[in-house]
Amino acid sequence: MPPKTVFVCSQCGNESPKWHGRCPGCGEWNTMVEERLPEPVPGGSGGGGSSLGRRSAKAARPVPLEQVEAPALARFQTGIGELDRVLGGGIVPGSLVLIGGAPGIGKSTITGGALGNLAAAGHSVLYVSGEESPAQVRLRAERLGGHALSVPIVAETDLETVIATLEAERPDVCVVDSVQTLYAGGLTGAPGSVGQVREVAGRLMRVAKERQVAVILVGHVTKEGALAGPRVLEHLVDCVLQFEGERERTYRTLRALKNRFGSTNEVGVFEMRERGLVEVEDASSRFVEEATRGPGSVVLCAMEGSRPLLVEVQALVAPSELVPPRRVANGVDRNRLALVLAVLARHGGFALGSSDVFVSVAGGVRVDEPGADLAIALALASAANGVPLGTGGRPLAAFGELGLSGELRYVAHADRRLAEAAKFGLEPVLSPDGSARTLRQALRRAIDGAERLVDAA
Ligand code: TYD
Ligand code: MG
Repeated sequence: MPPKTVFVCSQCGNESPKWHGRCPGCGEWNTMVEERLPEPVPGGSGGGGSSLGRRSAKAARPVPLEQVEAPALARFQTGIGELDRVLGGGIVPGSLVLIGGAPGIGKSTITGGALGNLAAAGHSVLYVSGEESPAQVRLRAERLGGHALSVPIVAETDLETVIATLEAERPDVCVVDSVQTLYAGGLTGAPGSVGQVREVAGRLMRVAKERQVAVILVGHVTKEGALAGPRVLEHLVDCVLQFEGERERTYRTLRALKNRFGSTNEVGVFEMRERGLVEVEDASSRFVEEATRGPGSVVLCAMEGSRPLLVEVQALVAPSELVPPRRVANGVDRNRLALVLAVLARHGGFALGSSDVFVSVAGGVRVDEPGADLAIALALASAANGVPLGTGGRPLAAFGELGLSGELRYVAHADRRLAEAAKFGLEPVLSPDGSARTLRQALRRAIDGAERLVDAA
């Protein structure tokens, strides 16, 4: 007998025996997800939210937390320093990690490399490929070199087979590439549909916890984050790592969106090379070296988690024929850019309402922090009047948040940002300190200090 299933609305939780395009409960479209009902035997496992399994359950005995045994977490080092750091020090045995990212970003490359290193360190590993044939995976491993070729692989999309393999092999670490390609027989949805992805991840989680197999799930996210897959897994897994960057650019960042065993502030920077992903440990020096020092270029002292990172913010301002003019933001938030433009117009004397404005963070890095405001504003001002802001051949460095009334606001870790800038000879740094309290003062200081003196607006 096939397992009984029920359709549950992922918005309101309304249950229904059959699928509806529109939830009869809350009226939302496309939210009904197929779920397996718990088996009626006591102790039967299942993911449904109904009350069926409860009838004959025995009460559990609560234990005071201090009596709970918590062995120190021994972690598996993947040998990829940046990955280990983002994970909080390595892979925790029996944990479930989700690595999400756009196709082609390098998820298979990094997980393959990590498994190779783990195998070389004497851990048992397994690579489950639902996407590529073993031959394709082998070609990648050949490119990667090292121990990537020693990783055992199964090419399989049937969830039952994968779980049976895990039970039989009991590897320390297993990569499932990707969670969207596995198929759970009991459910009708196509592989990759919300119901399937949830079922697959839920079952794999149980194996991970029971058998102490650390499972790394690879998940595709489209550019808009549209694909339902990985999003619905975030609450289920222990860690969610996001692999970002543009496919055409070489720099990639790996950040933790959720981490039950560490901080979510860490970011790893990688570069995609001919022979695999290479960690960029001295990212700041890279970006400062590459900074153009021309008009519209400012070095931002950013914080990526606990690590200061110097990145170049570039701006271009050009007369526009369009109404409304173009506003293009790469690597910074569009709304943040709109705010900076408004403050610049209202309190800085730079009205760019009839110009196209482009702002981008060089290298394809993303900075998502208010501390980027001042650097964006200075880059725009510099681009608007064609003045390069650096002195003595060095680019200008800045950080600070802009308030709506044109004041400069303090941001966290000022000392670390300053120290990082000093390391690369970028002094003085324009920041919300005693001498610049407003955007106008900062603009004046930047432009007066620049090599070519031009009257600020
Ligand atoms: P891949 O890891 O397959 O991406 P994903 O699994 O996220 O879809 O590889 C991404 C791209 O990286 C692919 O277009 C080829 C390129 N690449 C290199 O440039 N160098 C390499 O050594 C490897 C293995 C891949
Ligand atoms: Mg892949």
